[in-house]
Amino acid sequence: MTTTITVRQNGSYKVEGDDVKLVDWNGNEYTIPKRPFALCRCGHSKNKPFCDSSHKEVCFVAAEAAQPVGDDTPSAS
Ligand code: FES
Repeated sequence: MTTTITVRQNGSYKVEGDDVKLVDWNGNEYTIPKRPFALCRCGHSKNKPFCDSSHKEVCFVAAEAAQPVGDDTPSAS
């Protein structure tokens, strides 16, 4: 299965893939409680690096969408 990381609008990174492992800066592996899993992007989780939905409480806003592949249209900024 291909590993897919989805950047959620105003939320976490959703990680899908059975062959994914998550390691810390020492190379030690985290126990992944369930799959798919979500990584915190807002910095407010009390269970980092995993998302605990705290992003909803802090009204985290991040909604930068990727350009579709092959689309040469300049992005509005
Ligand atoms: S993205 Fe969900 S707690 Fe940070």
